[in-house]
Amino acid sequence: SELTFIMVKPDGVQRGLTGEIISRFERRGFKLVNLKMVHASKEHIEKHYEDLAGKPFYPGLVKYMSSGPVVAMCWAGKDVVKQGRILLGATNPLASSPGTIRGDYAIDVGRNICHGSDAVESAKKELELWFGQEAAGIQYERAIDQWVYEN
Ligand code: GTP
Ligand code: MG
Repeated sequence: SELTFIMVKPDGVQRGLTGEIISRFERRGFKLVNLKMVHASKEHIEKHYEDLAGKPFYPGLVKYMSSGPVVAMCWAGKDVVKQGRILLGATNPLASSPGTIRGDYAIDVGRNICHGSDAVESAKKELELWFGQEAAGIQYERAIDQWVYEN
């Protein structure tokens, strides 16, 4: 099934929101297929956000994202890339709806606690960057899937 890359950013880890973020994806019915804590280097973050190089906030973004450990995850499920972005909420928490992760727990765009891939193609790229050979995650069956999916 479809895969996406979701990350708890350093502020989310520091604020003790890792469990809450994981829980929201779990309760929706998505399946966790990989997870690790990483204190990423500036170079690694520069690669992750290479599309944003040149933006005025880019240096601050790289500093923020490499300032402490993050929790990197691979989630699987139907339409999980798009649905994951909906669970996270708008980039700017001031524009995120209540009920979304950012809308419930963040205020500032530069401290928005979580990341989600914006397309199936970028998910593939990001999973390879963060998980390398394990990009596709762990293969396992869940008995609950018959209660989450009709087919
Ligand atoms: P990610 O899931 O982190 O990729 O966020 P996004 O896809 O919703 O937004 P985008 O990829 O455009 O920006 C990446 C990250 O850069 C955002 O999540 C913010 O942390 C940061 N960012 C984006 N725009 C701004 C901005 O205008 N000011 C600041 N300070 N940070 C920004
Ligand atoms: Mg993005």
